[in-house]
Amino acid sequence: MCGLCGIATRLRRHLFATKSIELLHHELESADRLHRVLGPVALTALGVGAIIGAGIFVLTGLAARDFAGPSLMLSFVFAGLGCAFAGLCYAEFAAMIPVAGSAYTYAYATLGELLAWIIGWDLVLEYAIASCAVAHGWSHYFQAFLALFGLAIPPAFATDPLSATATTIAGAWYVGPLPIVFDMPAAVIVLLITIVLVVGIRESAGLNAGIVLLKLVVVLFVIFAGIPHVDPANWHPFFPKGVGGTLSGAAYVFFAYIGFDSISTHAEEARNPARDVPIGILASLALCTLLYIAVAAVLTGMVPWEQIDIDAPIANAFARFGLGSATILISLGAVAGITSVLLVMLLSQARVLLAMSRDGLLPPALFAAVHPRFRTPYRSTILIGFVVATVAALLPLKVLADLVNIGTLFAFVIVCAAVLILRRTRPEVRRPFRTPFVPVVPILGILANLTLMIYLGWENWARLIIWLAVGLVIYGFYGSRHSRLRLAADR
Ligand code: ALA
Repeated sequence: MCGLCGIATRLRRHLFATKSIELLHHELESADRLHRVLGPVALTALGVGAIIGAGIFVLTGLAARDFAGPSLMLSFVFAGLGCAFAGLCYAEFAAMIPVAGSAYTYAYATLGELLAWIIGWDLVLEYAIASCAVAHGWSHYFQAFLALFGLAIPPAFATDPLSATATTIAGAWYVGPLPIVFDMPAAVIVLLITIVLVVGIRESAGLNAGIVLLKLVVVLFVIFAGIPHVDPANWHPFFPKGVGGTLSGAAYVFFAYIGFDSISTHAEEARNPARDVPIGILASLALCTLLYIAVAAVLTGMVPWEQIDIDAPIANAFARFGLGSATILISLGAVAGITSVLLVMLLSQARVLLAMSRDGLLPPALFAAVHPRFRTPYRSTILIGFVVATVAALLPLKVLADLVNIGTLFAFVIVCAAVLILRRTRPEVRRPFRTPFVPVVPILGILANLTLMIYLGWENWARLIIWLAVGLVIYGFYGSRHSRLRLAADR
């Protein structure tokens, strides 16, 4: 009996062991770290680069038409508020623990190894699966762009097999009785970006800054060129599907905000993380919220909500007014914008896995190997690139986007809770940036993001639970046995 008690106590101690903040700071000083090259502008650009993409250019169409109607503007306000509360919590952690692991590391320092693993595994949903969804969005706009010049990719190589129709399959090649159908542009763009990422962060950040500028110009163009075509009559009724429709819309367009938190995964590469990371998070979030509300107002003002296109809604709104050249610019901006989202998402994924493998929860030979010349986690970047390219080529956008949203909302809830916990358990630790109005802001963050999770529906909860269960099996077989914290405690 006492033997059993002893095992249970040890198990509990292992599963809830936290990694001390002092140890995290000590690790920061060790040899094999990433280059510190990013300032506040580069970090904000990385944030905007990760945020504005498939969400605003593609998902707004379905959110307006099927859920929110003109109240899409408020959907963006609600989703943006939840992100702002979470962003303030992320900023406190990112300044206090400026290492690459983001929410995973924060959970390790506060809630213990088991929850840290769950969050790290959950972040794969946010970054890797979001990359798959975003690659799909890229493929759609790229094809729309080619179509403007009368060019087209054969249908069997331009869509995922689950979205394929009889027409798509008609032109396909066959392996025996099986038609070969996959989204080739989605896979190719992921592989190209993987090459850029292996070469290095400085190059990646430079490329990102150029693209971010282009997409900001295009979004501003959409707003100012669209205003003269807005008919306020289109904003009535404002809530065609009630407030519930607005909140469902918010849960769906939440995708458009994902990415601001990825700035925290670059804290280790920031020149002055205590100041620059909070600036990057909050500045990029504020900028994008304003732009999104304006785009939603213009889009729903230009086109009656039931008629909004769901594949390329913004380009299509301008095409309705015969503005062909505007359509070219918008498609180009969307392709460029979505490219930079992919760049940051794939970059962030490699960094979270790097942090997990340094702790022994994943095989370091694969995920912690830093390239001797480029100083990038090259092996995991290449592995992620191949997996994301394959999934993006084969699964449909809507399924991927919903899964990403619920996983990310879950991570936000945990980060808000972690701020509350650490303020109680470690009040003395220096916090270069403090979340304001604690406990109000973290509690509002938890409530707002949980509300959005509820509006995503039970199927997505089921998918999240299955995903986390698979993660727990992996933890049981590998992470729990190789955890450096556990091995040190057992010595
Ligand atoms: N926020 C990113 C996008 O909208 C994921 O593409």
